[in-house]
Amino acid sequence: MKTIGVLTSGGDAPGMNAAIRAVVRTAVENDMTVYGIRNGFEGLMNGDVYEMNLRSVSNIIQSGGTILKSARSQEFKMDSGQQKAADMCRRLGLDGIVVIGGDGSFRGAKDLTSKGITCMCIPGTIDNDIACSDDTIGFDTAMNTIMQMIDRVRDTTESHSRCSVIEVMGRSAGYLALYSGIAVGATSILIPEFECDFEIDVVERMRRTIESGKRHFVILVAEGVGDATEMAKQIEEKTGVETRTTILGHVQRGGSPTVRDRVLASQMGNYATRLIRDTRESRVIACKDGNLVNYKIEEALAMTKNIDLDAYRLAHEISI
Ligand code: F6P
Repeated sequence: MKTIGVLTSGGDAPGMNAAIRAVVRTAVENDMTVYGIRNGFEGLMNGDVYEMNLRSVSNIIQSGGTILKSARSQEFKMDSGQQKAADMCRRLGLDGIVVIGGDGSFRGAKDLTSKGITCMCIPGTIDNDIACSDDTIGFDTAMNTIMQMIDRVRDTTESHSRCSVIEVMGRSAGYLALYSGIAVGATSILIPEFECDFEIDVVERMRRTIESGKRHFVILVAEGVGDATEMAKQIEEKTGVETRTTILGHVQRGGSPTVRDRVLASQMGNYATRLIRDTRESRVIACKDGNLVNYKIEEALAMTKNIDLDAYRLAHEISI
């Protein structure tokens, strides 16, 4: 494979830039030509590309966001959009594309593959909801951001002897909530993977801790569970503890990537580029038990990932 493109798609994630850097540098060092594609599949359809060199990716390893920009394209979801993108790849002489994003982006890569374009997918999403991979680029940074933000909320929650219901991102997955919940010692962690009994798992739990002398509470709610503001209202009514809601929002998606995300992104970008050069097959890169592996896109999309039951039990037992 001589000429490849690289794009970022879907919600951005800290570490995407480190992955782009690794793709570009690996390609150039292996005598390949590499084009940056702006705005994900939208930019690909419109031929919004530029040739990148070793210096195009200088000074980005530490920055959040993505220098290539990202988008969720409606047009690309249609067959006509996918055909347009495939035609553009041929016109630009792109032998393959490295796609950095989440499972929506991988479905796009699968569609593009069916139009004859090789795609190498790299998991980049703060949600960590890519079933075939233990970790995704951006997850570690987002957890650290959440932890730092909640530590701040906790200061004022403690001063006022209040309860804070804090909503974190994750779409329909609870990984961000679970691990950051352990890290901040949340009294209750509500995630979509476990059905929770609000009365037992939140209200009763708070009453028990009040009896043991606790006066401030952090209740962590994954966005896929439900309305955090409504829960806060109910908590105040049922426990008598003054309660506030904090929806952390997009602060979770920004910021300089952690060491772990920079290293993971560098490894994945390097591996993906070598693989697309050697195999010319569409694959998803994944990290399994500390090793980089790869799967067919269909196979990766069909996999399911279980939430760590031990982590959930641990939180329940010691955050009381
Ligand atoms: O997939 C990443 C994510 O941040 C989810 O956690 C969240 O549900 C969604 O994207 C938000 O998307 P948008 O930035 O389009 O509002």
